Amino acid sequence: MGLTIGIVGTGTMGRGIAQIFAASGNRILLHDAREGAAAEARDFVGGMLARLAEKGRMDAGDAKDAMNRIEVAGKLEALASCDLVIEAIVEKLEVKQELFSKLEKILSSHAILATNTSSLSVTAIAAGCEKPERVAGYHFFNPVPLMKVVEVIPGARTKPDVVDKLTGLATEAGHKAVRASDTPGFLVNHAGRGYVTEALQLLRERVAEPADIDRILRDAAGFRMGPFELLDLTGLDVSGPVMAQVYKQFYQEPRFRPSPLIDQRLSAGLLGRKTGEGFYEYPDGKKAEPGETIHEAVEPGAVWISNARPERAAKVHEALSSAGIYVETGERPSDNALIIVTPIGADASAAAVAEDLDARRVIAIDTLFSLDRRRTLMSTPATATQTMARAVAAFSKGGNSVTAIEDSTGFVAQRVIATIVNIACDIAQAGIATPEDIDTAVTLGLGYPSGPLSWGDEIGADVILEILEGIEVLSGDPRYRPSPWLRRRADLRLSLRD
Ligand code: NAI
Repeated sequence: MGLTIGIVGTGTMGRGIAQIFAASGNRILLHDAREGAAAEARDFVGGMLARLAEKGRMDAGDAKDAMNRIEVAGKLEALASCDLVIEAIVEKLEVKQELFSKLEKILSSHAILATNTSSLSVTAIAAGCEKPERVAGYHFFNPVPLMKVVEVIPGARTKPDVVDKLTGLATEAGHKAVRASDTPGFLVNHAGRGYVTEALQLLRERVAEPADIDRILRDAAGFRMGPFELLDLTGLDVSGPVMAQVYKQFYQEPRFRPSPLIDQRLSAGLLGRKTGEGFYEYPDGKKAEPGETIHEAVEPGAVWISNARPERAAKVHEALSSAGIYVETGERPSDNALIIVTPIGADASAAAVAEDLDARRVIAIDTLFSLDRRRTLMSTPATATQTMARAVAAFSKGGNSVTAIEDSTGFVAQRVIATIVNIACDIAQAGIATPEDIDTAVTLGLGYPSGPLSWGDEIGADVILEILEGIEVLSGDPRYRPSPWLRRRADLRLSLRD
């Protein structure tokens, strides 16, 4: 026999939460401050369950039973028999505190109070309660039935058995429960800071256009959606304030510093899909994909590859020679050769200077990921236009997509991936969650191709460290300082999950 679960606030989140817990055998009581809202939610969830049955994803009898377990609670007092009440009302501290105070007077002493807050402190919400030990965060993601992960967040006074019960209940409903400590952004929203923040920083430095940054991160790094597509989908009016708030909550931690581009774009109404224009344009509601830059068709000519990083040079050599490009083998480039460098955590300029190369003929290629995917080429401010045209011709000869970017300390992918891994390392260092939960929650909650710590291991903790140290030196920006978790494990050759 399941529990009786009250859900207060039956909007987007409340409905999804009701659906999964009704489907897993619990009795659901829906309450909303707006007249008629709970009944609408009941009908909505009924429709969703019926659709699942129609599509064969749920047994028709089970769907009907689940539907019959959902009731409307007109008054808050009608929640008296609940074992657990989950609130998904407006994101305002005083309103949530007031609701929990009222509920404490109605519910039995064993009942648990859970909040679906995404940005408020669970401890602060519980602080208004007589028994804060029964309050916990229960942070689901939208859409709840599809996003099969939930963060269980104990406040400073929450009893362990409350966490265990919420974890067990989520598991029964087919969701993966991860435990996160009550810190800004909890686990997933904290871990997800790096992706768009670093992309905005790249845009601010005019490294590449949004569509090119998105293409690199989708095609080369394997993200399902580029950061600018994501910003447009969420709406800058939603993500902008979240970025500002997390930065403030972490007392101006440079890692989370939002971009000045945000306020400017907000003022201009460039919010994204919802306003028809953001980083992309949406004529007729559909994203218009800007064309890729076309480079002058030229003969690549001879290519020389710097051997400063022999393994990376060999990878590039193989990619070029298999496409029939002539690669020189001398110690130094011949007078007209196209010069290729393979920096890690450095820009093309720094690589050219370090190796005393003719910057007009220098092109850097990002070798972090397989060269079978989209290739990123980077020029120095001195690189001739003709040089880039030759490099594009050489690297696209086998049929590969190529994106040319301006000089950047760590291209696009190196910077973004290293930032994501570094933030995950900080989360592990602060004990906000276990390494295993960090990887699981980020994969399920953010849809990244890999958990950030496993990804760091795959690339090599030493490589991630080298990227960050390089960027930190060249940029002087403390946001790139390596996490102690990363440095220690890289130095000791341990896994980032250790
Ligand atoms: P929503 O606006 O869709 O639904 C909120 C519902 O709560 C409305 O039906 C409203 O009438 C009702 N409500 C407001 N104040 C109330 C009160 N004092 N008593 C009873 N009902 C009240 O909001 P949404 O998006 O479902 O968000 C709800 C909560 O979930 C917020 O705390 C939000 O931060 C959190 N959250 C939202 C996510 C999202 O993607 N929308 C993701 C994760 C968490």
